[in-house]
Amino acid sequence: MKGIVFTEFLEMVEKEFGLEVLDQIINESNLASGGIYTSVGTYDFIEMQSLIVKLSEKTGLSVNDLLYAYGKTFFAVLEKNHANIFSLYSGPLEMLASIENHIHVEVRKLYPGAELPTFRIIQQDNHFLEMMYYSDRSMYMFAKALMEQTFAHYHENSRIELEMVQENGTQVRFRIYKEPHAVS
Ligand code: HEM
Repeated sequence: MKGIVFTEFLEMVEKEFGLEVLDQIINESNLASGGIYTSVGTYDFIEMQSLIVKLSEKTGLSVNDLLYAYGKTFFAVLEKNHANIFSLYSGPLEMLASIENHIHVEVRKLYPGAELPTFRIIQQDNHFLEMMYYSDRSMYMFAKALMEQTFAHYHENSRIELEMVQENGTQVRFRIYKEPHAVS
């Protein structure tokens, strides 16, 4: 997993839960890196898992809720660092349908060693996208947050349904609906 995912995560922990919780989760997680990450480095995903499980214990929030919250934060990083990618797409569904064959392909070139999920498109039209998510990291709530923020980026509304195909979250079916704007 890329260092930027760790550095941004730790920044979020400090901001939301304070320096003390940050120090505690780093000290109690038994990290091979010692908790020192550079944004361009590559580290074992096990370290992220330990940090997030510890944070869950400290805060009483579930790992999934924390991954979802982190996805919301991480999207802002993507928007800031990769604004050019967003300008290539006319809307959220076009962008989400291109993650597998374009966006993450470019990401692999920019971030050697990146561990990315696989998305497989099942069905697609102008208002709907059905995709399968596959990843050993089971970060489907992180994915859901990124999807919702993609809609927000294009000022569109979404409704996103998840179906656990594997109980451990390594295979999840997403049904993504573009919803009409509320009439005011
Ligand atoms: C992971 C880049 C858009 C889904 C990642 C990682 C990077 C990245 C660098 C971390 C890889 C690692 O730590 O080894 C980008 C860029 C994007 C983009 C530059 C667009 C500008 C999206 C969008 C989604 C998405 C829109 C929506 C579903 C994910 C997921 C992961 C991930 C779920 C976590 C890894 C996993 O589940 O196995 N992405 N991404 N990405 N990305 Fe993207």
